[in-house]
Amino acid sequence: MNGIPFNKVILTGSEIDYVMQAITNGHISGDGPFTKKCEGMLQDILGVRRALLTTSCTHALEMAALLLDLQPGDEIIAPSFTFVTTVNAFVLHGATPVFADIRPDTLNIDENGLAALITPRTRAIIPVHYAGVGCEMDAILGIAGEAGVAVVEDNAHGLFGKYRGKNLGTFGCMATQSFHETKNVTCGEGGALLLNDPRYVERAEIIREKGTDRSRFFRGLVDKYTWVDLGSSYVPSDILAAFLCAQLEARECVQVRRQRIWERYHEGLSDWAQDRGVRLPIVPDHCQQAYHMFYMLMPSLEQRQGLIAHLKALGITSVFHYMPLHLSDMGRRYGCEEGACPVTENVSDRLLRLPFFNGLTEEDQMRVIEEIKGFAHPG
Ligand SMILES: Cc1ncc(COP(=O)(O)O)c(C=O)c1O
Repeated sequence: MNGIPFNKVILTGSEIDYVMQAITNGHISGDGPFTKKCEGMLQDILGVRRALLTTSCTHALEMAALLLDLQPGDEIIAPSFTFVTTVNAFVLHGATPVFADIRPDTLNIDENGLAALITPRTRAIIPVHYAGVGCEMDAILGIAGEAGVAVVEDNAHGLFGKYRGKNLGTFGCMATQSFHETKNVTCGEGGALLLNDPRYVERAEIIREKGTDRSRFFRGLVDKYTWVDLGSSYVPSDILAAFLCAQLEARECVQVRRQRIWERYHEGLSDWAQDRGVRLPIVPDHCQQAYHMFYMLMPSLEQRQGLIAHLKALGITSVFHYMPLHLSDMGRRYGCEEGACPVTENVSDRLLRLPFFNGLTEEDQMRVIEEIKGFAHPG
């Protein structure tokens, strides 16, 4: 019996051709024709003012931190239930993290707790659209607007998802994307910074190009380029952009496949989940999800670990997800304690993600579903 991995990248068609083209073009450093094509596609598909490809979502988040000109003591509010770099990127540039709890239904930042976390030092709120289901952006933008703080969407999971009909990644003044190999479309390692507020565009180009005005030089706006601001090396190779370009072109096919996979899990597991006290994902009617992942909330940590082991013995890889950041070694350095984000603490112990990738066959997926149903955990 073949093993079923948690994730496996498949080619959508043109990747190898495009990579070869990038090489024969003789432009394998950054900002070549494929980078421009990807950025143009992201701008057109999403309707953002400017998209800049970056070496990762983490680096796009770091660029956001630099663009916000954070000063020591400035605070950012982010969910505790997220990837490390949602927060680390801002802390690296001087911010103090303030951790918000999540909603029990969507596992997104709980907008109801935000007002109480805002202080005179708050500079930004970083909503994460968990599993590609939109956060409550109306409320979040309202609270941020009233307090005069920026909203930077960490949209690592949410490409092609919508909230009340509007694309995720277009609500904040900036948003970040990931093209890591676990994402719906990928180039292995990669990301993008989406800029919705035109005031950030020129400086973002400088930060991305090692603090130089090289982009303006290439547009013929200055006759030499020089060091003009802080920055770093956030430009990916055009070889990676070539791979990504093929994946982005195949996005409709990718999304149809992923929708089918998500729906098959949902249909196949609903009755079992109800009988066993397992919670399947909740997608509010006003959210068009990105079909990024399928998770289950098991009744207890023991049952979650039991099911992971049961599937592993059958060659099927299922995985847990984020550990609460406020209880990490770094979180505790900021004085965070157990009980501060109760929903996060509870969910993190019980959540399990099932194999979910573009090439998952119906046969393999049905096997995953049947083996889950065969899991007999006492209690
Ligand atoms: C919510 C979130 N933000 C940021 C990242 C970092 O993405 P990257 O690996 O592209 O830096 C991840 C990684 O999966 C993530 O899940």
